[in-house]
Amino acid sequence: MSQPIVVESVAALRAQVRDWRRDGLSIAMVPTMGALHEGHISLVRVALEKADRCVVSIFVNPAQFAPAEDLDKYPRQLARDLDLLAEAKANLAFTPTVGDMYPAGFATRISVGGPSSGLESDFRPTFFDGVATVVAKLLLQATPDRAIFGEKDYQQLCVVRQLCRDLDLPVDIIGAPTVRDRHGLAMSSRNAYLSETELKIARQFNVILRETAVALADGADQAVATAAASRALATAGFDKIDYVEARESLTLAPWRRDRDGRLLAAAWLGKTRLIDNMEISST
Ligand code: PAJ
Repeated sequence: MSQPIVVESVAALRAQVRDWRRDGLSIAMVPTMGALHEGHISLVRVALEKADRCVVSIFVNPAQFAPAEDLDKYPRQLARDLDLLAEAKANLAFTPTVGDMYPAGFATRISVGGPSSGLESDFRPTFFDGVATVVAKLLLQATPDRAIFGEKDYQQLCVVRQLCRDLDLPVDIIGAPTVRDRHGLAMSSRNAYLSETELKIARQFNVILRETAVALADGADQAVATAAASRALATAGFDKIDYVEARESLTLAPWRRDRDGRLLAAAWLGKTRLIDNMEISST
């Protein structure tokens, strides 16, 4: 099993990409913050279906963490990540340092409007600026033909699409479905924070969202159904519910029944914040 090439510097990344291009190969990128799990690996698989070579970036991006958030305790396990990437046949792991990504004097921040308003932004107001800035940098550093993002972070996927459209970044953004464990819990690096008791409660998240999405598709009133979902999450044992909202799938504008819809939610279990979302499908 051959290990992926590991590069830290943008110069080395660009040299490898240039070699591949010279050989006529196409390139797909999977940006991550590491602590890889089956959800990330599914994106690598999509990448290798859509392109000849797959670059995975592993960078815990300080710009998207607020001061009180979990930047310091975010799981870091590079050796294990590289084994998983080798197994998945990813070709290159890009592991820049914070100092290289944000050298002293760094002074640019990309702020995307549209789909970034509300939902996550109401609770993490600087989050999407941090994501948009680092994603723009990563895409300009690697210049892939395509980049794969998970629907698990649905609002992030919409924000990245908007970013690339608005800045004419020549990259196709591909969304990939959420990978779940056998209980339906969306895989997440932050699940590692959950105790056994919290894990049992967390597994109710997808069940409640799916029931609510079905009710909405069947004609339930939006305000009534989402309030009922919040109550059901609290009853299941979630400590705080940030939001449960139905939005229009493409723009994330408030959902109208004649449009494709997405139900999005965020809730806390102790010190861990979980997010999930479901399609509102009429079938
Ligand atoms: P991270 O949380 O590591 O996620 C990296 C990618 O994996 C994202 O596109 C995310 O949506 C996807 N992903 C995570 N869990 C998934 C699951 N269960 N099923 C499918 N895809 C899943 O998202 C980030 O990192 C960062 O914000 C980043 C985009 C890298 C910018 O720093």
